[in-house]
Amino acid sequence: MTTAPGYATDFADRYDEWFTPTTATTDATVALLSRLTGSAPPGPVLELGVGTGRVALPLAARGHQVHGIDAAKTMVEQLRAKPGGEQLTIRIGDFAEVEQEEEFALVYVANGSFFELASQQDQLRCFARVARRLRPGGLFVLDAHLPEALAASAAAGAQPVTSANGAPVLRTRRIHPAAQRYVSDYLVLDEGLFRHVRVAFRYAAPGELDLMAVAAGLRLRERFGGWSGAPFDDTSTWHVSVYELPA
Ligand SMILES: C[S@@+](CC[C@H](N)C(=O)[O-])C[C@H]1O[C@@H](n2cnc3c(N)ncnc32)[C@H](O)[C@@H]1O
Repeated sequence: MTTAPGYATDFADRYDEWFTPTTATTDATVALLSRLTGSAPPGPVLELGVGTGRVALPLAARGHQVHGIDAAKTMVEQLRAKPGGEQLTIRIGDFAEVEQEEEFALVYVANGSFFELASQQDQLRCFARVARRLRPGGLFVLDAHLPEALAASAAAGAQPVTSANGAPVLRTRRIHPAAQRYVSDYLVLDEGLFRHVRVAFRYAAPGELDLMAVAAGLRLRERFGGWSGAPFDDTSTWHVSVYELPA
């Protein structure tokens, strides 16, 4: 069993205020996932690192049967407290393992969470476990930063981040290319106090992710430059990759 990240255990009740992407990004994420289910076999959908339900709840509200995995009970408690939260099937556990017994039409991981898996071995295992739980023709969708964009962001120093409640949030990234790791430090000004949140990641370029997919028996079906469905091109800093289990 993996240990839940510190931000998830210590600040789950503040996560939505401080760390959720914009409503427009969430709407686009839900719309693209919903569209992709149209080209997947029928069946339930699984979110890895479901968190407080930012994506899972609106996706379920569109009529999809949504399951989730998260290591942090604290985050899932937030999800459960929201309208529709009791209806989702959630397992507390490690998403590198995907211990679900059901077979899914689509599995997804959003908001850069895949890189929270701390090693190449864990990331490979996640791909393999997802592939085992997909129906033939099923899809695995993940979003991720490009390494070049992470390096540029690290070089830029402390950057303001837009938070949902308007709280001032500053983020600094430190990148360790030799280890393919980066660390994000957030400083949040909360009722006159600075809160510090650190998150560690293991990053991989799209080509490495594609090889992990091949090793798991999946193939790249398409790659977007973001959840908006924009083309993936030389200007992209982020990607949404769609892998398919051959039918
Ligand atoms: C950045 S949050 C994103 C939550 C949600 N997907 C969203 O987009 O709003 C990542 C979530 O993944 C969970 N998580 C991180 N590593 C995990 C792991 N190895 N197994 C299960 N959950 C994990 C964290 O507890 C957290 O709830």
